[in-house]
Amino acid sequence: MTEAILLVGGKGTRLRPLTVHTPKPMVPAAGVPFLAHQLGRARAAGVEHIVLATSYLAEVFDPYFGDGSSLGLRLEYVTEHEPLGTGGAIRNVASRLDSGPDDPVLIFNGDILTGLDIGALVDTHASAGADVSLHLTRVDDPRAFGLVPTDDSGRVTAFLEKPQTPEEIVTDQINAGAYVFRRSVIDSIPAGRPVSVERETFPGLLESGAHLHGMVDSTYWLDLGTPQAFIRGSADLVLGVAPSPAVPGRCGDRLVLPSATVAPDAKLTAGTVIGAGAVIAAGARISGSAILDNAVIGAGAVITDSLVGAGARVGARTSLSGTVIGDGATVGPDNELREGARVWCDTTLPPGSIRFSSDE
Ligand code: GDD
Ligand code: MG
Repeated sequence: MTEAILLVGGKGTRLRPLTVHTPKPMVPAAGVPFLAHQLGRARAAGVEHIVLATSYLAEVFDPYFGDGSSLGLRLEYVTEHEPLGTGGAIRNVASRLDSGPDDPVLIFNGDILTGLDIGALVDTHASAGADVSLHLTRVDDPRAFGLVPTDDSGRVTAFLEKPQTPEEIVTDQINAGAYVFRRSVIDSIPAGRPVSVERETFPGLLESGAHLHGMVDSTYWLDLGTPQAFIRGSADLVLGVAPSPAVPGRCGDRLVLPSATVAPDAKLTAGTVIGAGAVIAAGARISGSAILDNAVIGAGAVITDSLVGAGARVGARTSLSGTVIGDGATVGPDNELREGARVWCDTTLPPGSIRFSSDE
């Protein structure tokens, strides 16, 4: 069966402070590192051998996933000492692949939550006889992505990464971050220097007349690159809206890991997850949020669409909406934090320090 490369070396800058101690693919979503969902979906599609291209905080992957045998996978890790970019990372792991020159190799960005039918992408690649096949999805605002116009037959006509001008916005189809490469195309990427697959490899292949094929679909798709997207993705996994075989429990309104302690009258809704060892006090109301391992939520706190990091503390009556609390931080009682606030790891916000309303 087809083998896969997972790109997991990015710095996750836009997710800080979630990615200060933890690389983006290892931040928990629905109770397990996000990567566990991607590995589970690949395994369910029949993939058995996966090479992880690591760079930032590379040392944390192996201790968690090991050789992959507990997941029914054979995992290998290849670390770039200097980040090589997406194309450089792909080229850098080529020696670990078993595939022959014409065999298909799957490649996944490490921060995508999707219901993509992986087998269908491989089948499309074979029937189109393509050199590279790309999963494409449609979005309202494509500017933060790679734009990929196609012709009537599905053949890619251009690749425009993060367009800068209105004239460049020629389509709402974007690169969804899952590819099938003919093995020999991977070997043709220059070795030993940084290469962007989006800015260099794809445009270069198109110029040389290679056949790039797009498969557009409308299945669930989310890039978990920002805090709000990450929180949304975790909640969708808990709710079962986003499909994953790796959710550690039954999907529904909430997921409480076995060693957490939740007061009987606390209300957990809209895909909230409570991590191992976390403690939720009386009267807390938590909606659409991720409370990571060993966090402590005080009595009467109201938390909506937020993430509370590992070991962080949220005081009584504090209200959080659309905010991220870093690992080990303390938000004292009677604070009110809103959309976009990021409390850095291990910092302390004294009681009643930030309010958006005039009541005490
Ligand atoms: N090993 C390694 N080395 N991995 C890297 C490196 C690197 O130097 N740089 C980035 N990555 C990994 C990231 O960890 C992530 O899994 C993936 O490559 C894509 O990087 P992002 O930083 O998340 O890129 P993006 O979201 O801005 O854009 C990409 O994804 C979009 C879809 O979400 C592009 O592929 C766009 O074309 C695409 O539309
Ligand atoms: Mg991304």
